[in-house]
Amino acid sequence: MICNNSDIQNKIIDGRLIARNIESSISEKVIKLKQSGIVPAIAVILVGEDPASVVYVRNKERAAQRCGILSKKDIYPESLTEKELINKIEELNNDPLIHGILVQLPLPSHIGEKKITEAINPSKDVDGFHPLNVGKIFTENAPFYPCTPYGILKMLDYYDIPVKGKNCVIIGQSNIVGKPLAVMLMNRLAAVSSLNIFTKDVKSIASKADVLISATGKAHLIDDGYVKDGAVVIDVGIANIGGKICGDVNFDKVINKVSKITPVPGGVGPLTVAVLMENTVKSAMGRLQK
Ligand code: GUN
Repeated sequence: MICNNSDIQNKIIDGRLIARNIESSISEKVIKLKQSGIVPAIAVILVGEDPASVVYVRNKERAAQRCGILSKKDIYPESLTEKELINKIEELNNDPLIHGILVQLPLPSHIGEKKITEAINPSKDVDGFHPLNVGKIFTENAPFYPCTPYGILKMLDYYDIPVKGKNCVIIGQSNIVGKPLAVMLMNRLAAVSSLNIFTKDVKSIASKADVLISATGKAHLIDDGYVKDGAVVIDVGIANIGGKICGDVNFDKVINKVSKITPVPGGVGPLTVAVLMENTVKSAMGRLQK
């Protein structure tokens, strides 16, 4: 079947629209918090000048401004030591005016991500990466769920796409996206397949998915051969090819087959940022109860 323009529009998951809805409900909560004397605040740490990280951090800062959340950006040179970074995190852990701490990943290779993640107080871990919070994904009582997987669930909910009993295939098993998302989909009783770089015949597994999520960062990996007719395709990938931002999915090749698809840009990215703001406000609201 060949799609016309309005068919295509109906298939596109509008991440920016959903994010705007979330941000407007956050803004209302922020106003109430401020009336109670609490200014929600997030500290964002960037080490080095990775160009993609610089853009992500800027997007987070802008979202915080839109929501009325205070954002404190700390940028350090690549030469910062692991110990120095841990000391900075300790200061933020002890600062009662900071409700969320985010260390942008990836970090330079001399700094251990695991150690840094564990240094953040779990009650300020708005990324949801601390092992205590990751463990609580299993028991469905995490204070903060990782932003990208949670954003993906919010997209599915917005469009009334149930996953119970559905074949969900996730390509990529990072700690940030693939692994937590697998558990979060299992919690919703989906049949989940987690694929990685060593998985044989990714194409044949992917092409049986009702919901296909690709998080590899390999531009245009996914073409029509990977997609079942009527599948929902969520593209978490982001790559810069000759100055043009593109995802894991070759949109033009799969659009005729999918029932819904996220664009890149304007799909998953805005949701990740909106959930981060939601987590920050949730942390600040916890302060209200103390
Ligand atoms: N790098 C890529 N995605 C993320 C994210 O969600 N949080 C952090 N801290 N770093 C990232």
